[in-house]
Amino acid sequence: MPNTAPQTFNIVLLPGDGVGPEVTRAARDVLSVIGDFYGHQFGFTEQLIGGAAIDATGEALPAETRDACLQADAVLLGAVGGPQWDGGEVRPEQGLLAIRKAMGLFANLRPLQVSPVLAHRSPLKKEIVEGVDLIVFRELTGGVYFGEKTRTADRASDLCEYTVLEIERVARAAFHTARQRRGKVTSVDKANVMETSRLWREVVTRIGAEEFPDVRLEHALVDSMAMHLIRKPRDYDVILTENMFGDILSDEISVLGGSIGLLPSASLGTHGPGLFEPIHGSAPDIAGQDLANPVGAILSAALLLRHSLKLEDEADSIEAAVAAVLSAGAVTADLGGGLGTRGATEAVIDAIRAIHWAAAHRVQMHWA
Ligand code: NAD
Ligand code: IPM
Ligand code: MN
Repeated sequence: MPNTAPQTFNIVLLPGDGVGPEVTRAARDVLSVIGDFYGHQFGFTEQLIGGAAIDATGEALPAETRDACLQADAVLLGAVGGPQWDGGEVRPEQGLLAIRKAMGLFANLRPLQVSPVLAHRSPLKKEIVEGVDLIVFRELTGGVYFGEKTRTADRASDLCEYTVLEIERVARAAFHTARQRRGKVTSVDKANVMETSRLWREVVTRIGAEEFPDVRLEHALVDSMAMHLIRKPRDYDVILTENMFGDILSDEISVLGGSIGLLPSASLGTHGPGLFEPIHGSAPDIAGQDLANPVGAILSAALLLRHSLKLEDEADSIEAAVAAVLSAGAVTADLGGGLGTRGATEAVIDAIRAIHWAAAHRVQMHWA
C-alpha cells in the first residue's frame, strides 16, 4: 500500500543492442505498474547508446544521451555490443565506459542471493550454493579500462593505473555496506604481481583499520579467489575489487544462482543519478526471439528505486514479486522454464498485483 507521498521522476532508458531493448522494456513495464500502485509519475525518455547510437549518429555516446543522463533522476540500461560492430572504428562498449565516466559512477554493486528454489539449477552441488548471499563492489571508473591504450604494428599496450583517492572512495562504500550486512569485506587483488594491487591492498588495509575497525577485512589473490568462489561461496559477504577483476568474478558467480540473466547491478557515484543495468551483455545468440531472462533488468529497476529514488517499499515489492515467480517456476528457458521474456515479465507484474491485493485485503480485514 502507498505509504510515501506521490512523486514525479525522470528516468532515462538506454535500451542499447541485442536483448537490451527487450529487457529494458520489461523493466519499464514493471516500473509503470509500480508507479500506478504507489501513485508516482515515472517519466521515461529513451536515448541512444552503443551500436544503435553508432548506426544512427556515428558515435557510441552522443552528447544528447550524455546530457539527458546527467540531468535524469536515474538511468536504466539494457546492454550494448554485438558482432556487427566488431572491427569498426568505434566500439559500442566505448559508449558504456564513457557514460560511466561522465556520470562519475565509481562503485558498481552486483548483489547475488541464491534462491533456494533455483539452487538445483546451478551446475554446482545444491549444498554448496544454497544460502549464498554476497555483493561485489567493483571499482568502475579506473584501472586498465581507462588507462592509456597504444597500438603499433607489432606492439599493443593497456596501462593500468589507480590513485589513492580512487581506491579510498570505493573501499569506504564497501565497508559501509558490510557494516549493514554480516560485517566482512574480502578485498581481491593481485598484489603478488601488480604494483596497482599493492597500492590497493595498502589503502584498503588503512581505511579498514582507521575508519571501520568493527568490520572484518581479509585479502585474497584473484586467482585463488576464482577457485574459492566456486568451492565455498557462502563464506563471502562483501567482495571489494578493481574494475577488471570485478568484471570477471561477477560473471563467474552468476553461475551459482542458475543464470547470468538473474543478476542486477547498480552503478553509483558520490552524488547525482545512478545507472542501473543487468550484468549480462547483449546476448546476440538469443536476441529478438523473446528468449532473454528479464529478471536481471527487473531487479535493476528495483535497485534504481532503492538507491536513486529512495523508494524502499517500492523496491521491496518488486523483489518480493520476483522471489514469488521464481518459487512458482514461472521462468525463462535459461532456468529450464517455458516462458518467454514477455511471459516472465507478465508473471512478475501479476505477482506485484497479487502482493498488493493481499496487502489491501489485510488492511480491510484489520479495519472490519
Ligand atoms: P553475454 O552476457 O551477452 O552472453 C553470455 C551468455 O549468456 C550467452 O549465451 C547469452 O545467451 C546468455 N545470456 C546473457 N544474458 C541472458 C539473459 N538475460 N537471459 C538468458 N541468457 C542470457 O556475453 P557475451 O556473449 O560475452 O557478450 C555479447 C556482447 O555483449 C559483447 O559485445 C559484449 O561486449 C557485450 N556486453 C555488454 C554488457 C553491457 O552492456 N553491460 C555486458 C557484458 C557484455
Ligand atoms: C559489464 C560489461 C562491460 C564491462 C563491457 C561491455 C564494457 O562486461 O558491464 O560487465 O566490461 O564493464
Ligand atoms: Mn561484464
